[in-house]
Amino acid sequence: MTTFATGAVRVSVPATSANLGPGFDALGLALDLRDRLEAEVIGSGLVVEVDGVGSDDVPLDERHLVVRAMRAAFDELGVQPPGLRLSCVNVIPHARGLGSSSAAIVAGVWLARELVAGGRLLLGDEGLLDLAARIEGHPDNVAPALLGGFVIAGQDPDGTFYAVPSEVDPRIDAVVFVPPEAVSTEMARGLLPKEVPHADAAANAGRAALLVAALGGRPEELWRATADRLHQEYRRPAMPASLDLVDALRADRVPAIVSGAGPTVLAFTDTTDGLLARCPEGWTALQLGIDSRGAVAW
Ligand code: HSE
Repeated sequence: MTTFATGAVRVSVPATSANLGPGFDALGLALDLRDRLEAEVIGSGLVVEVDGVGSDDVPLDERHLVVRAMRAAFDELGVQPPGLRLSCVNVIPHARGLGSSSAAIVAGVWLARELVAGGRLLLGDEGLLDLAARIEGHPDNVAPALLGGFVIAGQDPDGTFYAVPSEVDPRIDAVVFVPPEAVSTEMARGLLPKEVPHADAAANAGRAALLVAALGGRPEELWRATADRLHQEYRRPAMPASLDLVDALRADRVPAIVSGAGPTVLAFTDTTDGLLARCPEGWTALQLGIDSRGAVAW
């Protein structure tokens, strides 16, 4: 008979930036900004508490994304608890392209596994990544959220998700410029064309390969390596101010991209060189280190 952990289990999960310019649905990076969650098996019912980002608008019931991810993991583990308490302290902005939904999903599957005795044997790390990516639909945020650092991720023809961590030069940090308005990933994906010119695909393949080298130890190549032709421009109508900021920064040779599906703009930097001052009025700018830990107990 399956038994559950007694007492609370806790996890913190980092924000992530996906695509990084040319690596659409493939490249992702964990950032030093963390949601913290705690869960416990109780006798009956469901209690969800949220502090911080989303406390005014996320549903506090079975629709809550962390709860949905926990339920999926419990199904995978072959058992549902009699009752559940979940408490979330959120700092990752929602619907801004900083991986808040992936952080929620990774936290959910991770917590569920910790709550089941022997859970790590029943659902290994590869299984956890695969489940999280299936819930999210693509792996480029969930992989770095789980593993930390810079991760190259994708899906095999049989549907299996994979994730390969790669080096990040310790000189590299990021500045994120977060606009006040949200953009849904679903809507941003809807703006993409079904087909793209071969020349654009070829250009992105070369830049994505260059980006692996640039992040790994050639930061002087980051500007060239972050050029994109497959998604950012198509999404301009949903986030014109973000694309304007990317254009302005890139014109000054700053390696700037749209973070994930936007609308946040991320610029790589190796100095505190006045980038924060480029923040448009009403937006929030944060200088963030690269997170190397991924999902961890706290
Ligand atoms: N690769 C995804 C996209 C990231 O750009 O749509 C957003 O979740």
